[in-house]
Amino acid sequence: MTSNTFYALAFACFLTLSFLSHTGWAHRNMRKESPYEFMKLLKGCKQGDNVEGIQQLKKFLHHFGYLNQKHLNNRDIDDDYFDESLESALKTYQLNFNLKPTGVLDTETVSLLMIPRCGVPDIVDGKTRMKSAGSYNIKYAHFPGSPRWPVTKKVLNWGLQHGSRRDVIEPLAKYSFQPWVGIAPFTFNFVDGNLSIADIKIGFLDKSQGMAGNTLGFTYPPTNGTVFFNADMNWSFGATPGAYDLGTVGLHEFGHALGLAHSSVEAAVMWPYTGMAQTKHLHDDDIKGMKALYAAS
Ligand SMILES: *[C@@H]1O[C@H](CO)[C@@H](O)[C@H](O)[C@H]1NC(C)=O
Ligand SMILES: *[C@@H]1O[C@H](CO)[C@@H](O)[C@H](O)[C@H]1NC(C)=O
Ligand SMILES: *[C@@H]1O[C@H](CO)[C@@H](O)[C@H](O)[C@H]1NC(C)=O
Repeated sequence: MTSNTFYALAFACFLTLSFLSHTGWAHRNMRKESPYEFMKLLKGCKQGDNVEGIQQLKKFLHHFGYLNQKHLNNRDIDDDYFDESLESALKTYQLNFNLKPTGVLDTETVSLLMIPRCGVPDIVDGKTRMKSAGSYNIKYAHFPGSPRWPVTKKVLNWGLQHGSRRDVIEPLAKYSFQPWVGIAPFTFNFVDGNLSIADIKIGFLDKSQGMAGNTLGFTYPPTNGTVFFNADMNWSFGATPGAYDLGTVGLHEFGHALGLAHSSVEAAVMWPYTGMAQTKHLHDDDIKGMKALYAAS
């Protein structure tokens, strides 16, 4: 499977995940709560259990790359049985997020699973573990095949999809693009109006347009350039209680747009989770990851 095919599939699954989280069991029982609220009821589950909601957990772990195609084909994913492959997927998730790899839905694991996160899969094509090989504290990752923009471009144009809110232009330029200048070999130029000349195209999608409820954003690897933010999230510019800092989430999504995958360094911008009222700045791990990607020329 080429990585393009993979991303087309990942995005299709992403839409399915959104459909499930809004129309399925979780919604009927827990209106207005987090789409991942069903996970709370799975606390303590382990291999051998058969509990309603396990199926949704399997779909979640499949979307993020922890349960692969093989499990989808033999229909393991379509039931509520906590089988061996789910245990193994859960252990990998726990390792990626620096949790004890118990393979059990313990309190720490369930708490993390429920938090809104970036919708880009952690594991792509079954090849990229977030914990990349190498030194102890550097865990950045690139997408399979290390896709990147041609360094000869020098300037990447970015623009907003038609109808997007315009108050984001200045904060995104300042807090999400500018920090990558000098780290990735590009400058960034906002183009107004004509998206056909934009390399990076940014849009806001709400759940009626297929955005998964607990997703902060979603981005395709280079040189696709499409970035989506969740229009239903409470966004702020800077650290504000009850809201997500768009600058920080933008810094993360543009890291993907430039070619970085997820990192298991919690302080890194490329860690898949951003808390409410949390602002982050580029970490050594992000910087080393980006420089390594564009150093090979
Ligand atoms: C980005 O990838 C998606 C999914 O494969 C595709 O639908 C879209 O057309 C691509 N956009 C560009 C600009 O290549
Ligand atoms: C947008 O830019 C492209 C490429 O420069 C050009 O061919 C096209 O005519 C432009 N469209 C509009 C509406 O300006
Ligand atoms: C959204 O954020 C604002 C601050 O920007 C806060 O006052 C409000 O309570 C938040 N709403 C929710 C639903 O969290």
